[in-house]
Amino acid sequence: MTSGPVGLPASPRISAAVGLQELARAVLPAAAFDFYAAGSNEEISTAEAVGAWRARRFAPRVLRDVSDVDTAVELLGSRLASPVLAAPTALQRMAHDEGEVATAAGIAAAGSLMVLSSRATRYPEDVAAAAGPWWYQVYWLRDPGITRRQVERATAAGARALVLTVDAPYVPPKATPQLPLPLPQDDELCRLVGLGSRLPGWEQDPSLGLDAIGELHQLSGLPVLVKGVLRADDALACVAAGAAGVIVSNHGGRQLDRAMATADALPAIARAVGDAVPVLVDGGIRTGTDVLVALALGARAVLVGRPVLWALALDGAAGVTALLESYRTQLSTAMALAGAPRVAEIDGSLLHG
Ligand SMILES: Cc1cc2nc3c(=O)[nH]c(=O)nc-3n(C[C@H](O)[C@H](O)[C@H](O)COP(=O)(O)O)c2cc1C
Repeated sequence: MTSGPVGLPASPRISAAVGLQELARAVLPAAAFDFYAAGSNEEISTAEAVGAWRARRFAPRVLRDVSDVDTAVELLGSRLASPVLAAPTALQRMAHDEGEVATAAGIAAAGSLMVLSSRATRYPEDVAAAAGPWWYQVYWLRDPGITRRQVERATAAGARALVLTVDAPYVPPKATPQLPLPLPQDDELCRLVGLGSRLPGWEQDPSLGLDAIGELHQLSGLPVLVKGVLRADDALACVAAGAAGVIVSNHGGRQLDRAMATADALPAIARAVGDAVPVLVDGGIRTGTDVLVALALGARAVLVGRPVLWALALDGAAGVTALLESYRTQLSTAMALAGAPRVAEIDGSLLHG
């Protein structure tokens, strides 16, 4: 069990830790576990993600007053208890009956922000009713009418930003053979995302270009972040095209296998983008200490994918809250020990080499 200068002790069972996945394996149907855990092809990128954060070393500051540590951040107008957000992940009703609604409630109780997948298994209005601040993730589909209707519906339901995922023009095979997914087949929405998504109009549009960013902004009036960027030149092109934020991601290793680790991609992107827009990152972030590394490498916030699914499977909304609290507590402790009691004081000088 961890505790720190601020925050509650985390649940002894559910905490931000590399081993959480094994606890979840025991409670999930095998097909759901495999769907969530899988990477694409040989799973090289998925396997490398965690180690890339763990390889970094700190050069901590001493003799700073760290009696009062504050992990709070402001992100595109939302005040958050910590810079750890829930990444968009599809089909959460396989993890818990309440699915995305339970995740939203758990994240809200922890004072953070959820990104709702456009492949969600709960309606956006129901998620919005349980959520604090939330953003809506968008795949630009071959049938743009579906995309527009999804965006209009999420905007009307209260999404505060859109997250356009751009690293998935096609979906490669996963390493694990995908068994039939344990989705409730009687549910209209599950039919739509589980089976309907294999209809041609529901595939991602592989001809997508930079103009989609402006189009989504015009349609919704919302800030548009671009998720799935690994190169500084792409990040700059997105900013020039009107992106309100860039999310450094390789989709948890589920798209191009052998895509570089996000810990390695982040520094050049953060340097290139500077203060123009916030740079976020996800992929393999498993502890609050990983979060401190990511912030020191230039991220304004991080997103967490699979650990939220594991916590949701283990204990629903309460599990998600415990997970987020434990990330915050671990981050707070690491900030104190590194001599950076405010998020604004975290920078590259905290890293060795
Ligand atoms: C089961 C699963 C489903 C996902 N579904 C989506 C999705 O619908 N949209 C999206 O943009 N990213 C999706 N992602 C990618 C996540 O948003 C995120 O980039 C990734 O999970 C981060 O890595 P981590 O799981 O190691 O934290 C999914 C990832 C997983 C594991």
